[in-house]
Formats: sequence, structure tokens, C-alpha cells
Amino acid sequence: MADYTLVVLFYGHILSAVSWLGGGILTTFVVGPGVRGLSPPSGTEFMAKVMPRILRFIQAAIGSTFLFGILLYYYLGIQDGTSTATAVYAGVVVALATAAVVFSVTIPSFRKVIKLANERMASGGQGPPPPEMMKYSRRARIGSTVAVSMLLLVLVFMVLAATGY
Ligand code: HEM
Repeated sequence: MADYTLVVLFYGHILSAVSWLGGGILTTFVVGPGVRGLSPPSGTEFMAKVMPRILRFIQAAIGSTFLFGILLYYYLGIQDGTSTATAVYAGVVVALATAAVVFSVTIPSFRKVIKLANERMASGGQGPPPPEMMKYSRRARIGSTVAVSMLLLVLVFMVLAATGY
């Protein structure tokens, strides 16, 4: 008989992980360059109205990736000292470092940009974005590029764990 618990845990973990990684890739390589190509008022409105939703989606994906990942680890009863355990530990260490980058650099920088965008909308701000907004946008872009690169490495370790290299 199929192990439904295992199916649910794997499904939850992989769905959350692809949401995190996919959301990160889309934001960094599609949404970011797209917003930079908009007129300043349109870019400001996008950052004020759409970006908070994107951030909430990615934060939820991060939380459920860790939750399902930890449950999966214990449910599978992975033995210490095996190659699977080594690969999972390596993946977890890089995943934790990635979450640290996301929560200490990327999200705070995006929040700052969103706050400045809301202020500009409220004051009917015209003209080019202020230097402070450019500074935090650059920081958010660097933070998300670094995080996506690290997540791609986590994915390598997770696939190695599942395939028993
Ligand atoms: C606390 C963090 C995490 C834990 C504890 C964890 C744990 C695990 C475990 C135990 C497995 C099953 C390995 C096996 O079958 O032997 C797994 C698979 C997997 N993990 Fe994670 N993981 C974590 C974070 C992540 C992250 C951040 C990603 C996103 C890149 C990810 C993507 C995957 C994928 C795609 C698989 C399935 C691999 C395959 O079937 O080929 N995991 N994870």
C-alpha cells in the first residue's frame, strides 16, 4: 500500500521549494528588469502594490519548505553517517545561510523600497526616483541574486540526497 504520509511530505516539501526558488528566479530575472523598464510612476505603483504580495508569497514558501523538509527528514529516519545524511546536512546549512541573507538583506531592502514607493505615491511624486530608493533597489537586487545562487546549490545537495549519489 502506498505510504500517503510520505507522499504528502514530499509533495509539500517540493511544492514549497519550487515556489521559493521559482519565486526568487522570477523576481530577480523577470520582474526586476521589467520594473526598471517602466516609467517612474508605473514602477513606483508596482513596487507599492504588487511587491508586498510577492514578498509574502516567498516568505510563506520559505517557512513551508523548512517545515516539510524537517518533517520529511524525521519521517524518512535518515541515518547519521550515510551519504544521504551528509547531503541533507550540507543542503540544510546552505538553506539556513540563504534564509539569513533573505531575511537580513533582501526583504528589509525591498521593504524600504516599498515604504519609499508608498511615500512617493502619497505625495504624488513625479520625476526620477530618489537616490535612496535606487540604493535600496540595488541592495535588494544583489540580495536576491545571491539568494537564488545559493538556493541552486541547495537543490544540488537535495537531489544528491534523494538519489543516493
Ligand atoms: C531545513 C531545510 C531542509 C530540510 C531539512 C530538507 C530535507 C529534505 C529531505 C530529508 C529530502 C529527502 C531526501 C531523500 O529522499 O533521501 C529532501 C528532498 C528535496 N529537497 Fe529538501 N530540505 C530542506 C530544504 C530544501 C530547500 C531550501 C530546497 C530548495 C532548493 C529543497 C529542495 C528539495 C528537493 C527538490 C527535494 C527532492 C529531491 C529529489 O527527489 O530529487 N530542500 N529535502
